[in-house]
Amino acid sequence: MVMRALIAGCGGYLPPLRLSNDELAARHGLETSDAWIQDRTGIKFRHVAAPDEAASDLAAAAARAALADAGLPAAQVDGIIVATTTPDSGFPATAARVQAKIGAGPGFAFDITAACTGFIYGLSVAEAMMRAGHARHVLVIGAEVYTRIVDWTDRGTCVLFGDGAGAVLLSAGEGAGSNKDRGLLSTHLHADGRHGDILAIEGGAGSTGGTGLLRMAGKEVFRHAVSKLAAVVDEALAANGLTHADIDWLVPHQANLRIIEAMGKKLNLQPGRVVVTVDRHANTSAASIPLALAEARGDGRIKNGDLVVMEAIGGGLTWGSAIARF
Ligand code: UT7
Repeated sequence: MVMRALIAGCGGYLPPLRLSNDELAARHGLETSDAWIQDRTGIKFRHVAAPDEAASDLAAAAARAALADAGLPAAQVDGIIVATTTPDSGFPATAARVQAKIGAGPGFAFDITAACTGFIYGLSVAEAMMRAGHARHVLVIGAEVYTRIVDWTDRGTCVLFGDGAGAVLLSAGEGAGSNKDRGLLSTHLHADGRHGDILAIEGGAGSTGGTGLLRMAGKEVFRHAVSKLAAVVDEALAANGLTHADIDWLVPHQANLRIIEAMGKKLNLQPGRVVVTVDRHANTSAASIPLALAEARGDGRIKNGDLVVMEAIGGGLTWGSAIARF
């Protein structure tokens, strides 16, 4: 018997304000077009946090939804990990704010900085801590408010991002140690800091003393994305003795529909087997995978027993994959 981190609940939260491409362009005086944005990225809409909503508010709402899905009282949560690059403040951790907001138990609470790969990193760390006996019920949350860190004078990046949060509750269970087990089967994490500057927030508390804005060399990130994502998914499948044919759902990081479709093709998946939210959410960084999980679980697409492959790449560079059976 082995310990398995079961996905006991999923939840998401999107701020009520939803802007179309044309509305965004009008609001910020951008020289762009709905046609350019849709053609290059697949994005039609994004949600924007209200002025009084911080990352921890979005995260707490997603966490409450995940707990309701699992039927677990917040007091029984003994660990919270928030993946975010738009924390409420340098410290306390956004996770500690969430702990107080939802009334979770006095276990650990900390943040992870791995940009768009943050949720996959969070799953990996949570599972390792559960295996070590530190917790039985861990919330892993991705929460971002990127509309606060994009440069509204840079049309090449500001149209790409949106705000939101997604959460999963991992609960300790048992498995036989085979790829038929329910729960997290594996995570594979990578980073290559030599490419740190192609996707970064310029500045921070420890360098410039303030928070800077997001910069991205889009074409370069794109070039890394497809090859690294395909490699890290194949690495994960091989580690579990699985093949492309075993995948029920691909739940990718939602940066660009062209990258998502290329991944679906590489894995020989029917388009209906790839969960897509980028058209309605835009890129919500660490929140995009748990938001997509919550949507596909909530509408009944992902069923108990289904094998789900997750993958992401983002600033760092960081990239990774996770395989879970629901
Ligand atoms: O989440 C982390 C991971 N991130 C990613 O995976 C993002 C990867 N990169 C991408 O998705 C794409 O590179 C972008 C969507 C960001 C950009 O697409 P692209 O096809 O690489 O376009 P580009 O940046 O090379 O720009 C092409 C043209 C340029 O004009 P010229 O120089 O060809 O005349 C830009 O100035 O499009 C222009 N352009 C725009 N035009 C209208 C750039 N942004 C816009 C805009 N509206 N918003």
